[in-house]
Amino acid sequence: MLHQQDPVAASAPPQVQEQPRTIEVVAKRFTFEPSRIEVTEGERIRLVMTSADGVHGLEIKKFKVNKKIPRGGEAVTIEFVANAAGQFPILCSEYCGSDHDDMKGMLVVVAKPVR
Ligand code: CUA
Repeated sequence: MLHQQDPVAASAPPQVQEQPRTIEVVAKRFTFEPSRIEVTEGERIRLVMTSADGVHGLEIKKFKVNKKIPRGGEAVTIEFVANAAGQFPILCSEYCGSDHDDMKGMLVVVAKPVR
């Protein structure tokens, strides 16, 4: 029929999004595991974060990521698009003890290869 629309296609977003890449991060005094996360520019990232001890936070200022990670191992997730290449510090955003200020990681966003 000429005007019949496929309801699935009609409600789909204009551009097909890939499933986000899921990366599990464990926070513990006073480090992130892994401490270095490498992704590709433009990738949609889902961080699944748990704490191995007390409360921590995970902050990546560049991508406006900031989430409290509760004690007790409950997973929290945050999604963002790594839409800029470079190296961006991952910070702990909740005070967690003497070396809180040194609890850091690094997000490395590799520029998309030119085609
Ligand atoms: Cu971990 Cu502050």
